[in-house]
Amino acid sequence: MVNGKETRMGRNVRGEEIQAQERLVFALDVPTAKVAEALLDRVQESVGVIKIGLELFASEGPAVVRMVRKYGKPVFLDLKVLDIAETVQRTTTRVADMGVSFLTVHAERKALAASVKGRAGHPEMKILAVTVLTNVEPADLRECGYDGTVEQMVVARARAAAEVGCDGVIASGKEPTAIRSAIDSPLLIVTPGVRPAGKGVDEHARPTTPRQAIHAGADYLVVGRPIRDAPDPRAAAQAIVDEMQAAFAERLQS
Ligand code: C5P
Repeated sequence: MVNGKETRMGRNVRGEEIQAQERLVFALDVPTAKVAEALLDRVQESVGVIKIGLELFASEGPAVVRMVRKYGKPVFLDLKVLDIAETVQRTTTRVADMGVSFLTVHAERKALAASVKGRAGHPEMKILAVTVLTNVEPADLRECGYDGTVEQMVVARARAAAEVGCDGVIASGKEPTAIRSAIDSPLLIVTPGVRPAGKGVDEHARPTTPRQAIHAGADYLVVGRPIRDAPDPRAAAQAIVDEMQAAFAERLQS
Protein backbone atom coordinates (compact mmCIF):
# COMPACT_ATOMS: atom_id res chain seq x y z
CA MET A 1 0.00 0.00 0.00
CA VAL A 2 1.42 3.38 -0.94
CA ASN A 3 0.22 6.88 -0.45
CA GLY A 4 1.33 10.26 -1.65
CA LYS A 5 2.99 11.29 1.59
CA GLU A 6 5.30 8.29 1.67
CA THR A 7 6.08 8.71 -1.99
CA ARG A 8 6.90 12.35 -1.58
CA MET A 9 9.63 11.32 0.78
CA GLY A 10 11.02 9.13 -2.01
CA ARG A 11 10.59 5.93 -0.03
CA ASN A 12 7.91 3.30 0.23
CA VAL A 13 6.22 2.16 3.44
CA ARG A 14 9.11 -0.18 4.25
CA GLY A 15 11.55 2.73 4.02
CA GLU A 16 13.06 1.33 0.83
CA GLU A 17 13.78 3.33 -2.28
CA ILE A 18 10.82 3.30 -4.67
CA GLN A 19 11.01 0.73 -7.44
CA ALA A 20 10.16 2.78 -10.51
CA GLN A 21 8.84 -0.17 -12.47
CA GLU A 22 6.01 -0.60 -9.94
CA ARG A 23 5.02 2.99 -10.70
CA LEU A 24 4.76 2.67 -14.47
CA VAL A 25 1.16 2.17 -15.57
CA PHE A 26 0.96 0.77 -19.08
CA ALA A 27 -2.15 1.92 -20.97
CA LEU A 28 -3.26 -1.15 -22.88
CA ASP A 29 -5.14 0.78 -25.54
CA VAL A 30 -5.76 -1.96 -28.10
CA PRO A 31 -8.91 -3.33 -29.73
CA THR A 32 -8.97 -6.99 -28.66
CA ALA A 33 -7.85 -9.35 -25.89
CA LYS A 34 -5.72 -11.21 -28.41
CA VAL A 35 -3.73 -8.10 -29.31
CA ALA A 36 -3.55 -7.18 -25.61
CA GLU A 37 -2.12 -10.55 -24.65
CA ALA A 38 0.52 -10.47 -27.38
CA LEU A 39 1.62 -7.02 -26.23
CA LEU A 40 1.64 -7.94 -22.55
CA ASP A 41 3.78 -10.98 -23.25
CA ARG A 42 6.37 -8.57 -24.66
CA VAL A 43 6.27 -5.77 -22.08
CA GLN A 44 5.23 -7.39 -18.80
CA GLU A 45 8.74 -7.52 -17.38
CA SER A 46 9.17 -3.75 -17.66
CA VAL A 47 5.81 -2.38 -16.49
CA GLY A 48 4.19 -2.37 -13.06
CA VAL A 49 0.46 -1.74 -13.44
CA ILE A 50 -1.75 -2.61 -16.41
CA LYS A 51 -4.46 -0.16 -17.41
CA ILE A 52 -7.54 -1.33 -19.27
CA GLY A 53 -9.31 1.59 -20.89
CA LEU A 54 -12.66 2.18 -22.50
CA GLU A 55 -11.69 0.72 -25.88
CA LEU A 56 -10.60 -2.70 -24.62
CA PHE A 57 -13.34 -2.92 -21.98
CA ALA A 58 -15.97 -2.02 -24.58
CA SER A 59 -14.80 -4.80 -26.86
CA GLU A 60 -14.08 -7.55 -24.32
CA GLY A 61 -15.92 -6.71 -21.09
CA PRO A 62 -14.99 -8.16 -17.67
CA ALA A 63 -13.32 -11.22 -19.27
CA VAL A 64 -10.38 -9.03 -20.20
CA VAL A 65 -9.89 -8.09 -16.55
CA ARG A 66 -9.56 -11.80 -15.73
CA MET A 67 -7.11 -12.24 -18.60
CA VAL A 68 -4.94 -9.34 -17.48
CA ARG A 69 -5.01 -10.44 -13.83
CA LYS A 70 -3.15 -13.61 -14.75
CA TYR A 71 -0.02 -11.48 -15.27
CA GLY A 72 -0.01 -10.95 -11.51
CA LYS A 73 0.14 -7.16 -11.66
CA PRO A 74 -2.35 -4.62 -10.30
CA VAL A 75 -5.15 -3.90 -12.78
CA PHE A 76 -6.22 -0.31 -13.35
CA LEU A 77 -9.70 -0.04 -14.84
CA ASP A 78 -9.92 3.36 -16.48
CA LEU A 79 -13.68 3.69 -16.92
CA LYS A 80 -13.77 7.41 -16.02
CA VAL A 81 -17.14 6.85 -14.42
CA LEU A 82 -19.62 9.74 -14.18
CA ASP A 83 -23.34 9.33 -13.47
CA ILE A 84 -25.90 9.86 -10.72
CA ALA A 85 -24.76 8.73 -7.28
CA GLU A 86 -26.78 5.50 -7.16
CA THR A 87 -25.35 4.31 -10.48
CA VAL A 88 -21.78 5.26 -9.60
CA GLN A 89 -22.00 3.51 -6.25
CA ARG A 90 -23.36 0.27 -7.71
CA THR A 91 -20.92 0.30 -10.63
CA THR A 92 -18.01 0.78 -8.25
CA THR A 93 -19.09 -2.27 -6.24
CA ARG A 94 -19.26 -4.41 -9.38
CA VAL A 95 -15.79 -3.24 -10.43
CA ALA A 96 -14.35 -3.91 -6.97
CA ASP A 97 -15.80 -7.44 -7.10
CA MET A 98 -13.63 -8.07 -10.18
CA GLY A 99 -10.40 -7.68 -8.22
CA VAL A 100 -9.39 -4.38 -9.75
CA SER A 101 -6.76 -2.30 -7.92
CA PHE A 102 -7.49 1.18 -9.35
CA LEU A 103 -10.72 2.72 -10.71
CA THR A 104 -11.09 6.17 -12.23
CA VAL A 105 -14.10 8.42 -11.62
CA HIS A 106 -14.60 11.94 -12.98
CA ALA A 107 -14.00 14.46 -10.22
CA GLU A 108 -17.55 15.62 -9.60
CA ARG A 109 -18.03 15.62 -5.84
CA LYS A 110 -21.25 13.58 -5.70
CA ALA A 111 -19.88 10.94 -8.05
CA LEU A 112 -16.65 10.66 -6.08
CA ALA A 113 -18.48 10.33 -2.76
CA ALA A 114 -20.75 7.65 -4.23
CA SER A 115 -17.78 5.73 -5.56
CA VAL A 116 -16.07 5.80 -2.17
CA LYS A 117 -19.29 4.41 -0.70
CA GLY A 118 -19.50 1.72 -3.36
CA ARG A 119 -16.07 0.28 -2.63
CA ALA A 120 -16.80 -0.01 1.10
CA GLY A 121 -16.20 -3.77 1.22
CA HIS A 122 -13.02 -3.48 -0.83
CA PRO A 123 -10.75 -0.86 0.76
CA GLU A 124 -7.83 -2.24 -1.26
CA MET A 125 -9.26 -0.78 -4.48
CA LYS A 126 -8.05 2.77 -4.97
CA ILE A 127 -10.38 5.40 -6.34
CA LEU A 128 -8.68 7.99 -8.50
CA ALA A 129 -10.44 11.23 -9.39
CA VAL A 130 -9.93 12.49 -12.93
CA THR A 131 -9.31 16.21 -12.40
CA VAL A 132 -8.94 17.87 -15.82
CA LEU A 133 -8.01 15.75 -18.84
CA THR A 134 -4.54 16.47 -20.23
CA ASN A 135 -5.95 17.44 -23.61
CA VAL A 136 -8.03 20.27 -22.11
CA GLU A 137 -6.86 23.82 -22.88
CA PRO A 138 -7.89 27.15 -21.31
CA ALA A 139 -10.21 27.81 -24.27
CA ASP A 140 -12.11 24.60 -23.49
CA LEU A 141 -12.80 25.83 -19.95
CA ARG A 142 -13.98 29.22 -21.19
CA GLU A 143 -16.36 27.52 -23.58
CA CYS A 144 -17.95 25.81 -20.55
CA GLY A 145 -18.32 29.18 -18.81
CA TYR A 146 -15.44 28.65 -16.39
CA ASP A 147 -13.26 31.74 -15.87
CA GLY A 148 -10.47 30.20 -13.80
CA THR A 149 -7.28 28.54 -14.96
CA VAL A 150 -6.79 24.84 -15.62
CA GLU A 151 -4.59 24.67 -12.54
CA GLN A 152 -7.28 26.23 -10.33
CA MET A 153 -9.80 23.69 -11.56
CA VAL A 154 -7.38 20.81 -11.00
CA VAL A 155 -6.70 21.95 -7.42
CA ALA A 156 -10.40 22.48 -6.64
CA ARG A 157 -11.24 19.02 -7.91
CA ALA A 158 -8.31 17.42 -6.09
CA ARG A 159 -9.51 19.08 -2.89
CA ALA A 160 -12.98 17.60 -3.37
CA ALA A 161 -11.41 14.20 -4.01
CA ALA A 162 -9.44 14.39 -0.77
CA GLU A 163 -12.44 15.61 1.21
CA VAL A 164 -14.68 12.71 0.19
CA GLY A 165 -12.01 10.06 0.79
CA CYS A 166 -10.58 9.25 -2.64
CA ASP A 167 -7.09 7.78 -2.71
CA GLY A 168 -5.68 9.89 -5.47
CA VAL A 169 -6.10 12.02 -8.55
CA ILE A 170 -5.25 11.92 -12.21
CA ALA A 171 -3.47 15.13 -13.15
CA SER A 172 -0.92 16.24 -15.71
CA GLY A 173 2.73 16.54 -14.71
CA LYS A 174 2.36 20.33 -14.64
CA GLU A 175 0.08 20.21 -11.60
CA PRO A 176 1.51 18.09 -8.74
CA THR A 177 3.33 21.04 -7.18
CA ALA A 178 0.14 23.10 -6.92
CA ILE A 179 -1.85 20.11 -5.63
CA ARG A 180 0.73 19.26 -2.98
CA SER A 181 1.03 22.84 -1.75
CA ALA A 182 -2.74 23.42 -1.61
CA ILE A 183 -3.86 20.11 -0.12
CA ASP A 184 -2.43 18.60 3.03
CA SER A 185 -3.56 15.06 2.37
CA PRO A 186 -1.62 12.02 1.18
CA LEU A 187 -3.26 11.91 -2.24
CA LEU A 188 -1.62 9.76 -4.87
CA ILE A 189 -0.92 11.67 -8.04
CA VAL A 190 -1.16 9.62 -11.21
CA THR A 191 0.09 11.39 -14.30
CA PRO A 192 -0.77 10.67 -17.96
CA GLY A 193 0.28 12.76 -20.94
CA VAL A 194 3.85 11.60 -20.43
CA ARG A 195 6.27 11.69 -23.34
CA PRO A 196 10.00 10.93 -23.35
CA ALA A 197 12.00 13.96 -24.52
CA GLY A 198 12.06 14.34 -28.29
CA LYS A 199 8.90 12.29 -28.92
CA GLY A 200 5.69 13.78 -30.31
CA VAL A 201 3.06 14.79 -27.73
CA ASP A 202 -0.04 13.68 -29.70
CA GLU A 203 -3.14 15.52 -28.43
CA HIS A 204 -1.84 16.29 -24.93
CA ALA A 205 -1.99 20.03 -24.21
CA ARG A 206 0.01 19.69 -20.95
CA PRO A 207 2.64 17.02 -21.64
CA THR A 208 5.68 16.31 -19.47
CA THR A 209 8.67 14.00 -19.66
CA PRO A 210 8.92 11.17 -17.13
CA ARG A 211 11.65 13.08 -15.27
CA GLN A 212 9.63 16.33 -15.12
CA ALA A 213 6.53 14.54 -13.82
CA ILE A 214 8.43 12.70 -11.07
CA HIS A 215 10.33 15.84 -10.05
CA ALA A 216 7.02 17.69 -9.80
CA GLY A 217 5.70 15.06 -7.38
CA ALA A 218 3.87 12.42 -9.44
CA ASP A 219 3.65 8.96 -7.87
CA TYR A 220 2.65 6.91 -10.91
CA LEU A 221 3.05 7.64 -14.63
CA VAL A 222 0.60 6.41 -17.27
CA VAL A 223 2.12 5.72 -20.67
CA GLY A 224 0.45 4.17 -23.69
CA ARG A 225 1.46 4.91 -27.27
CA PRO A 226 5.17 5.56 -26.65
CA ILE A 227 5.37 1.92 -25.51
CA ARG A 228 2.64 0.31 -27.62
CA ASP A 229 3.82 1.80 -30.90
CA ALA A 230 7.57 1.50 -30.34
CA PRO A 231 9.52 -0.89 -32.56
CA ASP A 232 10.62 -2.63 -29.34
CA PRO A 233 7.88 -2.00 -26.72
CA ARG A 234 9.81 -3.70 -23.92
CA ALA A 235 12.91 -1.55 -24.54
CA ALA A 236 10.74 1.59 -24.69
CA ALA A 237 9.11 0.71 -21.35
CA GLN A 238 12.45 -0.06 -19.77
CA ALA A 239 13.92 3.26 -20.92
CA ILE A 240 11.01 5.06 -19.22
CA VAL A 241 11.50 3.00 -16.04
CA ASP A 242 15.20 3.90 -16.02
CA GLU A 243 14.40 7.61 -16.39
CA MET A 244 11.81 7.35 -13.60
CA GLN A 245 14.24 5.56 -11.30
CA ALA A 246 16.86 8.27 -11.78
CA ALA A 247 14.24 10.96 -11.16
CA PHE A 248 13.01 9.30 -7.93
CA ALA A 249 16.62 9.18 -6.72
CA GLU A 250 17.12 12.86 -7.60
CA ARG A 251 13.89 13.74 -5.81
CA LEU A 252 15.08 11.96 -2.72
CA GLN A 253 18.24 14.06 -2.69
CA SER A 254 16.57 17.40 -3.38
O1 C5P B 1 -0.98 6.94 -25.48
P1 C5P B 1 -0.95 7.86 -24.31
O2 C5P B 1 0.31 7.74 -23.47
O3 C5P B 1 -1.27 9.27 -24.66
O4 C5P B 1 -2.13 7.31 -23.40
C1 C5P B 1 -2.57 7.97 -22.29
C2 C5P B 1 -3.56 7.11 -21.58
O5 C5P B 1 -3.95 7.79 -20.42
C3 C5P B 1 -4.82 6.81 -22.37
O6 C5P B 1 -5.24 5.49 -22.04
C4 C5P B 1 -5.83 7.81 -21.85
O7 C5P B 1 -7.14 7.32 -21.84
C5 C5P B 1 -5.34 8.06 -20.45
N1 C5P B 1 -5.49 9.44 -20.02
C6 C5P B 1 -6.10 9.71 -18.84
N2 C5P B 1 -6.26 10.98 -18.42
C7 C5P B 1 -5.77 11.98 -19.12
C8 C5P B 1 -5.09 11.73 -20.31
C9 C5P B 1 -4.96 10.43 -20.74
O8 C5P B 1 -6.55 8.79 -18.16
N3 C5P B 1 -5.87 13.20 -18.63
